[in-house]
Amino acid sequence: MGLLIKNIKCLVQTEDHPVHKICGREMAKLGLIKDAFLFIQDDKIRDFGSMDEYPAAYQISENNFDVIDASGKIVFPSFCDSHTHLVYAGSREQEFTDKIRGLSYAEIAERGGGILNSVAKLRETSEDDLYEQSMVRIKEIISLGTGAVEIKSGYGLSTEAELKMLRVIRKIRDTSPVEVRATFLGAHAIPEDFRKDRRKYIDLIINEMIPVVASEKLADFIDVFCDKGFFTTDETEKILTAGLRYGLKPKIHANELDFSGGVQTGLKYGALSVDHLERSGDEEIAALSGKDTMPTLLPGSALFLGLPDPPARKMIDSGLPVALASDYNPGSSPSGNMKLVMSLGCIRLRMLPEEVINAVTINSAYAMGLSETHGSIARGKVANVFITKEIPSYEFMPYAFGSNLIETVILKGKIINDPPTPLKGG
Ligand code: NIG
Ligand code: FE
Repeated sequence: MGLLIKNIKCLVQTEDHPVHKICGREMAKLGLIKDAFLFIQDDKIRDFGSMDEYPAAYQISENNFDVIDASGKIVFPSFCDSHTHLVYAGSREQEFTDKIRGLSYAEIAERGGGILNSVAKLRETSEDDLYEQSMVRIKEIISLGTGAVEIKSGYGLSTEAELKMLRVIRKIRDTSPVEVRATFLGAHAIPEDFRKDRRKYIDLIINEMIPVVASEKLADFIDVFCDKGFFTTDETEKILTAGLRYGLKPKIHANELDFSGGVQTGLKYGALSVDHLERSGDEEIAALSGKDTMPTLLPGSALFLGLPDPPARKMIDSGLPVALASDYNPGSSPSGNMKLVMSLGCIRLRMLPEEVINAVTINSAYAMGLSETHGSIARGKVANVFITKEIPSYEFMPYAFGSNLIETVILKGKIINDPPTPLKGG
């Protein structure tokens, strides 16, 4: 069996010679085929091209395939969201109101709110309940076009509660069609009971949490919130060193609240990505230049917290790659809408539509170690794509920032939402 999508108005982000990431000026280029077909077999992309070259073999075998006529519609590779905290309990709209009244994110955290508020909620929530709450968000982001997602722990902050979060992430990975990568973020904040002895908590992360997380294979990556008021660069170095010893590659929170040295620390330890970067200048850009580490910007949280926007334009103009992710979490970005993230990339970060598309597909796939299999339309890659409603152009996606324009979601070769019934035999 196969799935043929025909008469596609525009097939976006095609690659004949797949690359792992796209840097600098190249980010403004996008593989595009107008009036295209896409052939999916099992869970993989098998072929694509122009309808002018539609192979006779497909024409003859159409009766054996599911066929979708995508006239007037555009096909994109699914979004890759390389930075989320979408496993959490409850919500924090009270802090939203506090922020409107004038409190800053740091002030809320100092009063024991913020991350610690979510920690308290998570600890009293059962594993099953946490899974159910998180699956609602997973189903939501799938319907919004996400096909691969990284999810962090970090609202447990005790060995038991961190393991609970990571087991929920593993269950999502096992039960959902979305591709999942897990990150251990025990160093998200110092928990209340260790406030007077932060070294003891860091020892707990290093000597107890990391070994058990690694032995149960519950995480692919390790993260530290390396920023003012959270973890220092020295503490970050210790934690990353321990993680690396257990095979956990760093992906870290850096330079959100201050010029924290987080970017340089991440680079020193070969981080796959350094994320946030609202406080970045020429030094950080120079340090990132020519490195394998992906600068990942989270414009949803910059918007929500009223932070300065990260210097995306300067980064790209200096030759760096840029990835965009949602940071879906209850405190700084209660949204996993990657189409909105694209719009914010254009509107707030002055990125071109082509640049934001590269940033939410191939570059964000790279930032979660998935760019060999995800993030573009290439033969042999996993068949994660979505078909839009009838829209005038691919630029219309980030432009129409409030509209849901996604009609059909296909993950691992299977149609998983409620699209118009595919027509047998075209
Ligand atoms: O990426 N910056 C640190 N962590 C999250 C926020 C977590 C929270 O407020 O619950 C972030 O913005
Ligand atoms: Fe985050």
